[in-house]
Amino acid sequence: MVNMIYSISYRENIVGNRDTNDLVFNIREDLQFFKEMTIGTTMIMGRKTFESLPTGGLPKRKHVIVSNKIKTIEDAKEILGEKYIENLTFINLENLEGYIKEESKVNDISVIGGAMLYSYFLEDKNLFDLVSNIYATEVERIPDIKNPVKLMGHGSLKEKCSFEVVKIGQGKDRLDNNNLVNYKVVRYFKGNI
Ligand SMILES: NC(=O)c1ccc[n+]([C@@H]2O[C@H](COP(=O)([O-])OP(=O)(O)OC[C@H]3O[C@@H](n4cnc5c(N)ncnc54)[C@H](OP(=O)(O)O)[C@@H]3O)[C@@H](O)[C@H]2O)c1
Repeated sequence: MVNMIYSISYRENIVGNRDTNDLVFNIREDLQFFKEMTIGTTMIMGRKTFESLPTGGLPKRKHVIVSNKIKTIEDAKEILGEKYIENLTFINLENLEGYIKEESKVNDISVIGGAMLYSYFLEDKNLFDLVSNIYATEVERIPDIKNPVKLMGHGSLKEKCSFEVVKIGQGKDRLDNNNLVNYKVVRYFKGNI
């Protein structure tokens, strides 16, 4: 199974901070949900998202980095610098579809961002067909940042997919002075409920 997972500002479609390469929300319950959804899976991510993870990567998950620049281990060491770890898998865009088809025979796959990679999955019909579920945590707060990274394709998901709200929650956002924010987790999928 292939799932996509992200958190996004409800109306503005903001998923990241261009200047810092960081997330825009840090809600403990949502990070816990991300952990539960991704533990044991093969995580596929863009190179910048890998660089935004804590050094050492995330435990108990396989890390696959999509990059057109990284072709050899030497490239990886040079480009990723201190973020480089053993046991990374690198693929380029051309091989992405084939890789997913093979890997999903042996393990569940989580596509964990960022916007560039998510957009590619939403726009490329062959890739979109491979996705079973999109879990979007839709947060009711407009991040106060200068250069947001947006995922515009999210807005049209309700026209392309069926959807159901799987959780309605409220949590403290550590990137907003611990203020309480409302969010809902929406599962988008093809077919009927
Ligand atoms: N809200 C969330 O749930 C969430 C999740 C993950 C990340 N984020 C945030 O999103 C931001 C990073 O997103 P991003 O869009 O800037 O970067 P990204 O998708 O993480 O990585 C982009 C890089 O990956 C490769 N790549 C991936 N898709 C590609 C495509 N379609 N075409 C060409 N190359 C592609 C390229 O690597 P090379 O340059 O090496 O060729 C590209 O420079 C950060 O702020 C991060 O914190 C948010």
